[in-house]
Formats: sequence, C-alpha cells, structure tokens
Amino acid sequence: MLEPFDIDSWTGPFAPETRARAQAALESGAVLFFPRMPFRLGNSETEFLDARLTDGKAKNISLDWSRGKLQGTSASGEKAERLAAMIERFGAGATRFVTDLLPNYSGVERARTSYRPVEVEGRAYSRIKDDRLLHVDAFPSRPMGDGKRILRFFANVAPPKAKGGGARRWHVGEPFENFAQKFTPRVRPHFPGQSWLFGKLGVTHGQRSAYDEMMLSLHDAAKRDAEYQKHAPHSAVEFPPGSCWLVYTDMVLHAALAGEFALEQTFHFDVAKMGEPDKAPIKVLERLTGKTLA
Ligand SMILES: [Fe+2]
Repeated sequence: MLEPFDIDSWTGPFAPETRARAQAALESGAVLFFPRMPFRLGNSETEFLDARLTDGKAKNISLDWSRGKLQGTSASGEKAERLAAMIERFGAGATRFVTDLLPNYSGVERARTSYRPVEVEGRAYSRIKDDRLLHVDAFPSRPMGDGKRILRFFANVAPPKAKGGGARRWHVGEPFENFAQKFTPRVRPHFPGQSWLFGKLGVTHGQRSAYDEMMLSLHDAAKRDAEYQKHAPHSAVEFPPGSCWLVYTDMVLHAALAGEFALEQTFHFDVAKMGEPDKAPIKVLERLTGKTLA
C-alpha cells in the first residue's frame, strides 16, 4: 500500500535501485511515501498556515505556473505574490524531485500546483465533489484523451501541534482492476457528439474521449454507491506533518478524510512512456470492456 523511501533530499541523483523500485511500485498502484523530506516554510510563510486564505468558493488555491496565475485566494497584493512564490517554490521542487527520482519519465508534464489550507474533516460537499469518499481522479473539464496519466505529489506542511497531530488521513482502496470489474457494467454510454460540442463550447479543455467518459462515470458511480463506500476493502493511512507522497490518483482508489495545510503538484504522463503501459487504467478498461477507448 505505502512504499516507504528513506530519501531526505529533494534533488538526486538517486541510486539506480531506488529509482527502479520507485517506478515499479508507482505503476503497480502503490503510494510512494517519503517521511523524511519535509517541505519547509520560510519564517514569513508561516502566516500562510491559515484557512482564511481561500476565497471561500474554491476547495483549493491553485497556481497555473505557466501563466503565473493564482486562483481561489482571498489574499491580494504583496501577500498574494508571496503566497504564489511559496506555491511555485514547492511546484518547482516537486518537479525536480519527480524528474530525478523517475528519470525514465522524461516528458512528464507539470500541470497545476495547489495549496489546500482548509481542514478536510467536517466540510460539506455534494456527494460527487466529496473527496472523503473513495474515488479515482477524473476531472470533468480536463480530459486526458488517450489515457494520459494523473500523477500527484503531495506535501503535508501542517505544524505538528495542529489538530489531531497534523496528520493527513487517507483511505486507500482495492486494486484498480477489482474496482473496475465491479463498476464498468454500470458506466453510462459515451456520446461522441456531446464530447465534440463540449470541446467546441470550451466546457472542456479539449475533447473528452470514451476513456474520459468512462473514468468520470467510474468516479461518480463509486461516490454514489453508499454500500460500496461502507463495505469496500480499504486501508487507513496517515501522512504526518513533514512527509510527502507520490501516487497515480487515476488508478489508486483514495479518500482524503482529514488534514489541513497540504501542497500538491499534478503531473500528466503519456501511457506509452510508462515502464509497464499495460497497467494504465485505459489498458485495464480496454481489456475489461473489449472496446477501444481512445
Ligand atoms: Fe482525488
């Protein structure tokens, strides 16, 4: 479930055995766990340990690094600039780390960086938006097209004296294939015309493929199924303050139950460049359904 690494540096070079173990574990659906490499806040950055930094509408504060655009925050002016600089320092560090740890992943694309300063426990959301329920990631407006992977790197920056010891608590569910076997018979049909229209209207960034529709369907079906949420096999895991973790969230069933003050960097990655492309969700779903999904 958790594959621990004794790494304490954000930059390589890392030993060939370490790199090989990281890639194999990641592609097999493990959560890589780095308990000894904290992302340290500067003295002036500890003021960002404050849930009031969000604008109250978005779940997270996000940084589109390519445009230098910060969204979802109540901060403005100089404070917003310093907040963006902290998130960017994390995002650039995470990118360097992932590139050094997984040198075979050349071409991994850095997407958005987010800061999640609000306590997860006790928040009220619609079922579909409630990430305290087991799910695989699939985003309505961000199609992955030909099965591009969603890889995410997290850091818990909560102070240890925070509520509950500051740990971020997750449930991690069953292997993707077992989950997909249960839920693929229930997925809604794909309407290519609708995907085309959504792409044209700008509802989606690009056009959804049959794979995107299936992943959205699986995400929603799992969250809507109260029985599954109650009885599905899962393990409870904890990421303490100062730890980081890396996981393919399009494949690993996860639920974020509690925790505040986490940073997150999303990456996208081509299936064809994986060491074992057959383990990618698109390949698993194509095998199970006998259909080409992109
Ligand atoms: Fe998620």
